[in-house]
Amino acid sequence: MNKFALNTQGKVVLITGATSGIGLALYLHYKKLGYQVITCGRNKEKLAELTPDAAMHLVFDVNDISAIEMATKQVVYIDILILNAGTCLYINNARQFDGKSFREVINTNLLAMGALLECFLPKVIAGGQLALVSSSATILPFARAEAYGASKAGVDYLANSLRIDLVSEHIDVCLIHPGFIKTPLTDKNNFAMPFLLTAEQAADRIYQGIKRRKHYLHFPKRLTLLLKLLAFLPQSFSRLLLSKGLNT
Ligand SMILES: NC(=O)c1ccc[n+]([C@@H]2O[C@H](COP(=O)([O-])OP(=O)(O)OC[C@H]3O[C@@H](n4cnc5c(N)ncnc54)[C@H](OP(=O)(O)O)[C@@H]3O)[C@@H](O)[C@H]2O)c1
Repeated sequence: MNKFALNTQGKVVLITGATSGIGLALYLHYKKLGYQVITCGRNKEKLAELTPDAAMHLVFDVNDISAIEMATKQVVYIDILILNAGTCLYINNARQFDGKSFREVINTNLLAMGALLECFLPKVIAGGQLALVSSSATILPFARAEAYGASKAGVDYLANSLRIDLVSEHIDVCLIHPGFIKTPLTDKNNFAMPFLLTAEQAADRIYQGIKRRKHYLHFPKRLTLLLKLLAFLPQSFSRLLLSKGLNT
């Protein structure tokens, strides 16, 4: 075990997107276990109401670099940095490509990670951890997921590259691939979501994985392994199955 991995309690965890779904469940989970949790969100009132016992509330839109820079000044150090904030918009008509939605998703899910890393990574201590929330959607292409899938594929590469470059800094990088999790983000979906987990179940799996300093987390395994199997099949077959699944 890494010598820095002992003594997990009382550590400082910073979570983006802590006002809903997985991020909020992570706040509750870490808080219950005695961690000092810094919660981040766009809405000050929502943060205060939903995460009342946070060590600190940081209010910023992840697309606003100046606001992130301001917020960073309040943070002394971070043990575990979890970049979780994200959005999902579907491209409903590929032919009349919705560039505005595409830019919004790429900006929020991928480009914003650059700003967040620029501001918060210097605060992560040697022996600390960085976790990036991507998606199991990157395992193979889904219909209408051009924007979301492309943004998360970028996150995958980012995490895997960072992991190599942060070895010398003694910072472990964890790439997280959730399957379908019941949150406001997926409540909008009108298609079948197999093996749906609750946000609490997702938070527990993320907590356990980070605690074990895993480099890659994917859950539920019955979904991600199925997707990995499908990715090996001829594209014509997996395309047929997936386009059917997402349009029910
Ligand atoms: N749910 C799933 O099935 C699933 C599966 C795979 C991956 N994921 C990923 O897991 C992460 C969390 O998703 P979720 O399902 O928990 O979604 P959610 O319930 O919609 O929560 C998203 C969080 O991100 C924040 N956020 C969105 N845009 C932001 C912005 N521009 N600036 C600052 N904060 C912003 C939201 O803040 P507001 O409260 O201000 O809106 C909210 O706190 C995302 O990265 C998502 O892609 C989710």
